[in-house]
Amino acid sequence: MSEDHSTSVSSPPASGHWNRSQEAETRFWEGSADRYGHFSAEYWERMLAQDGLDPSFFEGARVIELGCGPFGMIHYLDTPREKIGCDPLIETYRELGLLQDGGVTHLAGRGERVDLPAGSVDVVISYNVLDHVDDPLGSLREAHRLLTEGGRMYLNVHSFPGFLRPVLPWLRYVDTPHPWHFTTAGVRRLLGRAGFEIDRSLSYPVRLPGSSFKQRVAQKIALHAVFLAHKT
Ligand SMILES: C[S@@+](CC[C@H](N)C(=O)[O-])C[C@H]1O[C@@H](n2cnc3c(N)ncnc32)[C@H](O)[C@@H]1O
Repeated sequence: MSEDHSTSVSSPPASGHWNRSQEAETRFWEGSADRYGHFSAEYWERMLAQDGLDPSFFEGARVIELGCGPFGMIHYLDTPREKIGCDPLIETYRELGLLQDGGVTHLAGRGERVDLPAGSVDVVISYNVLDHVDDPLGSLREAHRLLTEGGRMYLNVHSFPGFLRPVLPWLRYVDTPHPWHFTTAGVRRLLGRAGFEIDRSLSYPVRLPGSSFKQRVAQKIALHAVFLAHKT
């Protein structure tokens, strides 16, 4: 019997890696305020500008951020007609007193199964999330399902150069917060398999705060891969 994904919110069992990454995510946000004091409308405008966008991209649209975190950009945009934020840790963020309001309707749950009808949003944001989810292709397919015909996807995800491809499946054992490590070409392929056509893409080096050995290595090799795509 086929499953009605337009209303189902039940999720498949999460993998051990995903559970561990979400525990690491929770520990991160339980830490001190200097980890999140930088989030503001101005911060997100700078991040958008870095990706060649400005808030007019969301003008008058019904927008969902999959994996919105407590301070994701959806909370600070004032151009959308309607704002929705989905994250499995919504209740944790609320209990920690971190969850921003920003006029956002929060949905607690995974981005692989969102309790909204097909074709009900104009723009999906996935910012620093795809390498955190349990099922990246499932998450992109769900984004595709949620979008109206021609609806737009804004994806920003950490990626690695192609020569590192053989070692990427092993990185989850040392980089626990991230169950997935992609090459930029790998992300491009996933978008295609999920039914997206890419309109624009760019990449630039990741700048991380801190100077631990792991952070210094990551700064040298990790990239932000940015894709603007539309539903075909
Ligand atoms: C690094 S944070 C990014 C939060 C926000 N987008 C930002 O840029 O500030 C990653 C977020 O992805 C969420 N996440 C993990 N797995 C997810 C899934 N399967 N579906 C949706 N969100 C997920 C985590 O709970 C966490 O809030």
